[in-house]
Amino acid sequence: MSAKVLLLPGDGIGPEVMREAARVIDWFKQHRGFDCVLTQRNVGGAAIDADGVPLSDAVLAEAKAADAVMLGAVGGPKWDKVAYDHRPEAGLLRLRKEMDLFANLRPAIVFDELVDASTLKPEVVKGLDLMIVRELTAGVYFGTPRGIEVLPNGERRGVNTHSYTTSEIHRVAAVAFELARVRKKKVLSAEKGNVMDAGRLWREEVTALHTEKYSDVELSHMYADALAMQLLRAPKNYDVIVTDNLFGDILSDEAAMLTGSIGMLPSASLGPVQANGKRAAMYEPVHGSAPDIAGQDKANPLATILSVAMMLRYSFNRTADADHLERAVRKTLAAGYRTGDIARTGEKVVGCTAMGDAVLHALKARS
Ligand code: IPM
Ligand code: MG
Repeated sequence: MSAKVLLLPGDGIGPEVMREAARVIDWFKQHRGFDCVLTQRNVGGAAIDADGVPLSDAVLAEAKAADAVMLGAVGGPKWDKVAYDHRPEAGLLRLRKEMDLFANLRPAIVFDELVDASTLKPEVVKGLDLMIVRELTAGVYFGTPRGIEVLPNGERRGVNTHSYTTSEIHRVAAVAFELARVRKKKVLSAEKGNVMDAGRLWREEVTALHTEKYSDVELSHMYADALAMQLLRAPKNYDVIVTDNLFGDILSDEAAMLTGSIGMLPSASLGPVQANGKRAAMYEPVHGSAPDIAGQDKANPLATILSVAMMLRYSFNRTADADHLERAVRKTLAAGYRTGDIARTGEKVVGCTAMGDAVLHALKARS
């Protein structure tokens, strides 16, 4: 049976980077026997315009039924005034929650060709290959009570709740430990247990799981603020980092800039493995909708194209195809193709479509 892949391009540069990703998927259909059916639907602001909500029940049902979802980006100034619960981002958060995509894998890899695109010294970032595992369905993003209330004295009070349970911590930590086993066998866990009870529990539970099942992996702990600093000082000291939803959001943006541009970072969000061996999965670039350059053929499609590689690897077990695609991206960079975000002064800049063309060209080459 053909694999079902649901494309949700979303807003801003989402549609243009998704167009290039879809061409790449088509290439694997035509040349590598990747048997899949692509369907495209609206999410975020595009869905607000079309359906009045940032994620319709029908699209959510299709996402749940798909073998993999590819998402572009959501949000933009056009929807600044819509009700908070119906803002574009709410569509993305609902997808994550309802599909139970608790494990968000955000690799930060510095390609040799882009060492100079980073604001950090080449020797600090050259060869960097980090994997941030961010918890994605709990913590302050989803905790209740939440909201804004008016106090008797007329003041307003904003409330969010940061909470984690044992099982929520264990299942994401297990993903990090498993990844570590096929990488450098070390995990760093980050929280703020010095000020937050949920952080204290996080450290205790990660440690307990480690002792129980993963003592072959080296585990260390750090407060998230200290890690933010260490990531700039000596990022190559780390391999797999596991952290909560909010710290993972922040630290992954920081890690993105170690690589020179957030336009290069893919991600995979995975659900629990089901009895039939399948797991819900959504793949998306870490960057946002970049409304300032939307529709101008300026966006870097490589993060989305690299997300296709993650999809081939994690949802379809097509390791050789994933490797081939990642190599094609490397070759494209080596051949000198640069979108604006990764170009140094004087370097020739290509647009989103030309970058997609270049990757397709590299895919065809034999070596
Ligand atoms: C991300 C984004 C999202 C988040 C936004 C768009 C809701 O920043 O995926 O990192 O905060 O999780
Ligand atoms: Mg973010």
